[in-house]
Amino acid sequence: MSTAAVISSADATRSIVTRFLQPADVPALLALEARQWTARQAADAATMHKRIDAYPQLCVGAFCAETGAALASLFMKPTSPEAVKRARCWEDCARLDDQPSPRHQRMHSLFGISLTSVDGAAAWSLIRFFWPHALKQGWRDIYLGSPMPGFRRACELERQLAADHYARLRRGGLPLDPQLRYYHRKGFRKIVSVRPGYFPHEQSLDHGAVLRARVPLAALWPLWRRVPLPLLQRFSNLVTALL
Ligand SMILES: CC(C)(COP(=O)(O)OP(=O)(O)OC[C@H]1O[C@@H](n2cnc3c(N)ncnc32)[C@H](O)[C@@H]1OP(=O)(O)O)[C@@H](O)C(=O)NCCC(=O)NCCS
Repeated sequence: MSTAAVISSADATRSIVTRFLQPADVPALLALEARQWTARQAADAATMHKRIDAYPQLCVGAFCAETGAALASLFMKPTSPEAVKRARCWEDCARLDDQPSPRHQRMHSLFGISLTSVDGAAAWSLIRFFWPHALKQGWRDIYLGSPMPGFRRACELERQLAADHYARLRRGGLPLDPQLRYYHRKGFRKIVSVRPGYFPHEQSLDHGAVLRARVPLAALWPLWRRVPLPLLQRFSNLVTALL
């Protein structure tokens, strides 16, 4: 895995370069962050450095090949199903100084601390880039906390609407909430919990839905350790198209 940090994948049709993040990317990442998060929600430079320093193999970014502008970023950290269940809010899940698990207890789950994107193709390129690495590193599933930006409006229409019920509402077989639908399409199909006071998000009335996605084909992990990374990378487009 030592060469992974310098591997880049370029999507020639859209001129997007996708790779692991480095400390030098922080100014571009801050510019992206400012476009999509409020001042209260956005991560600062110190937080981004901390994330990259702690888990360089779990922080990925997509950049415009021409300008170098950051188009999408994803910061992750190892977690466990128990830790996700215990967590009351996003900060509980996202903090980097939590107790490491005992040596014998290998972690198989990731928590997506933050996904930010201004380009749908760039967000997909993060998933396509990371999937082969996830298999090689032995990650089996990914949790994240999603806003439910349609919740406030839905409550205006139906006063007694419970957040848990709202998160499970469907239309045409897909989640009714636009962001839960977005994540559903990216493989995050399981609603683990719905938490009030999860993070500041006005349209969601501060609620968050904790979601889980299985890493496709991760169950065959002993096999992937032996398969060369470039071979897995060749299948990445195909597999993520099946999500
Ligand atoms: C959520 C986010 C990462 C999606 O970025 P993207 O991959 O570039 O996708 P788009 O913005 O093109 O949205 C794709 C679809 O999802 C829907 N969607 C996603 N998030 C949404 C939201 N918060 N409100 C309304 N619609 C949303 C869009 O309406 C769009 O629907 P369409 O295909 O019918 O037009 C981006 O909007 C973002 O950075 N948001 C702010 C931060 C955030 O909420 N991050 C996720 C929580 S960690």
